Amino acid sequence: MKPNLTLFLFLVSLTVVLLINVTATASDYIRPAPRKILQFPWSPKHSFHPQQVHISLAGENHMRVTWITDDNHAPSVVKYGTSPGKYNAVAQGESTSYSYLLYNSGKIHHTVIGPLKDDTVYYYQCGGEGPEFQFKGPPSQFPVTFAVAGDLGQTGWTESTLDHIDRCKYDVHMLPGDLSYADYIQRRWDTFGELVQPLASARPWMVTQGNHEKENIPLFKEGFASYNARWKMPYEESGSSSNLYYSFDVAGAHIIMLGSYTDYDEYSDQYSWLKADIAKVDRERAPWLLALFHVPWYNSNEAHQGEGDNMMASMEPLLYAAGVDVVLAGHVHAYERSQRVYNGKSDPCGAVHITIGDGGNREGLAHKFKNQQPEWSVFREASFGHGELKIVNSTHAFWSWHRNDDDEPVRSDQVWITTLRSSGCIAEKSHELKKILTGP
Ligand SMILES: *[C@@H]1O[C@H](CO)[C@@H](O)[C@H](O)[C@H]1NC(C)=O
Ligand SMILES: *[C@@H]1O[C@H](CO)[C@@H](O)[C@H](O)[C@H]1NC(C)=O
Ligand SMILES: [Fe+2]
Repeated sequence: MKPNLTLFLFLVSLTVVLLINVTATASDYIRPAPRKILQFPWSPKHSFHPQQVHISLAGENHMRVTWITDDNHAPSVVKYGTSPGKYNAVAQGESTSYSYLLYNSGKIHHTVIGPLKDDTVYYYQCGGEGPEFQFKGPPSQFPVTFAVAGDLGQTGWTESTLDHIDRCKYDVHMLPGDLSYADYIQRRWDTFGELVQPLASARPWMVTQGNHEKENIPLFKEGFASYNARWKMPYEESGSSSNLYYSFDVAGAHIIMLGSYTDYDEYSDQYSWLKADIAKVDRERAPWLLALFHVPWYNSNEAHQGEGDNMMASMEPLLYAAGVDVVLAGHVHAYERSQRVYNGKSDPCGAVHITIGDGGNREGLAHKFKNQQPEWSVFREASFGHGELKIVNSTHAFWSWHRNDDDEPVRSDQVWITTLRSSGCIAEKSHELKKILTGP
């Protein structure tokens, strides 16, 4: 009997060791089933009650507070201060609304507050009454941490992604497109707004558009009407004439938000704006340069192959010359990270491209990767999750990817990234950049 028991214990422990190993390696990872679309019971609110509160950066030391009320007479004022219940400042904003087929939106308020102290908790009230919210603004110096998740939607997996992000320490949320998956059904924009409010009212959410924001009806309704009305970003503050592309600064990082679904050829407004924006960046003050847009340029998944090619042909030389360090994209519902890459090949002076379109939408994951992993592709996996980019100082940043299935602190992929500036690439390219910027 005794030897058998020993053998049994040995087999049990071996199984445990093997199981631990299986969950730790990406290629053997067992993928979970999809989760249900969330149901939101209709809960009528007091007509001035602020709904769907979210904040976004609005130029140096300023924050835009956005919320919706059922009542059209609710004022667009925000009272705020640095102690709970004590509001020693007040700001007046603007409002908008839109109609879409039979749907009429509530009153959408946009109120910019500031100047604000950096890295400070503020308490605020929307419309001068109702519940108190609070947020922490970003620091003015490194370190600074960005949470990144694209293609969110509103399913059980979205909830899980948001829950994970809520448990990490971060300063700004960045979303490379595909927010609500409303897809013409406008009520879904409202339920999405309510779903993200706990996070989006506490940290700035900086978003760019995806295909699910378009909602155009040929000859009848132009694209992005709901998105532009609800998710106003600091485009005016960054010299852009469109909410579909803009830039912002956090600590020593300059972040460029581009539009995959608006014109991007070299005669387009977006391209001219991009050139002007890059020309303004002082790399002494902003050693980190990041770019976000929806459709990835480097993608070895079978899904959405080639969709980013035209934009890449137009804009990659400019981003390369400018020395963009990291590009974050969505659209493909999976995770993939590249080497530094340019023009289809690994290049020590190119950008690290990361596809992070695995926030949790109802369409599910993009399971099929091309059989042959390209030489530039370092890590790829179809699982829901989010990323964290912690910029430690002017030369080093730490990127990590967190699966929803693991505990938040578990990092399934991670890498240290150093700036192109510190490797001498920027100096090398300055001539090329000048040529593009001063060209026609
Ligand atoms: C765990 O997996 C790695 C790589 O797949 C392998 O090299 C290693 O031997 C495994 N360890 C155990 C304890 O099975
Ligand atoms: C930046 O951070 C990295 C990683 O922690 C460290 O090795 C490096 O010395 C730091 N550089 C400076 C200039 O502080
Ligand atoms: Fe998409």
